[in-house]
Amino acid sequence: MSQSAKPVRLDKLLSNMGYGTRKEIDALVKQERILIDGHPLKNGKEKVTPSLGLQTELTIDEQQLDPLPGFAVILHKPVGVTCSRKDSGTLISELFPDRWNRRDPLFSPIGRLDKDTSGLILLTDDGQLNHRVSSPKTNTPKRYHVNLDRKLNGNETDIFASGTMMLENETKPLLPAELNVLGDEEAILTIHEGRYHQVRRMFAAVGNHVTALHRISIGGLHLPNELKTGKWRILSKEDIDTIFQ
Ligand code: URA
Repeated sequence: MSQSAKPVRLDKLLSNMGYGTRKEIDALVKQERILIDGHPLKNGKEKVTPSLGLQTELTIDEQQLDPLPGFAVILHKPVGVTCSRKDSGTLISELFPDRWNRRDPLFSPIGRLDKDTSGLILLTDDGQLNHRVSSPKTNTPKRYHVNLDRKLNGNETDIFASGTMMLENETKPLLPAELNVLGDEEAILTIHEGRYHQVRRMFAAVGNHVTALHRISIGGLHLPNELKTGKWRILSKEDIDTIFQ
């Protein structure tokens, strides 16, 4: 269930999306400059029921509007872009239209990738989707392609799968994780939680060092080949369902 399942007045929605005060929105309505599904919106008090992954066709002066609340985006995050304001460099929010950063509810990443990690990251304004993907309770697998500094020594698969592995300064063992070895210094690692720098710390704990890290999937949703680095697209309802299959 999405957070935004209740009918909401369009003037309120558009105002929360950064398109002006309710008074300004009402003026646009009177001038018939807002179209909903191709027809002029007659009254700003008209309600829509935003639904995660399903978008209403809305334009102002023939310009497509931002997505209504209840949307999610897949981004191919480049190396060097950061999810944290504490780091220097380009913030992930800078890859999206400026207005999206003034939305209510807030549009933000689901979990984080390190500045030096590339690949699939999801962003949403839907708190329940965020929780569903990131909570270890839902067990959503996150799959990474890993390049290493040193050769794998052969015992990593068992250690990572044990369910008893402890990371430094932590008191709770890691959930079992699956390692598929691709080469001497290359593997795919699937984890089911998202602890701080988890993949890098797991390899550090077995005496290795990650030289490149790239997330290839979350649940059943894979980073599409055609989504080039730095590019994003809005997820359909089917895409969102794929995450949990
Ligand atoms: N594990 C890491 O170490 N870094 C990431 O960005 C994601 C998982």
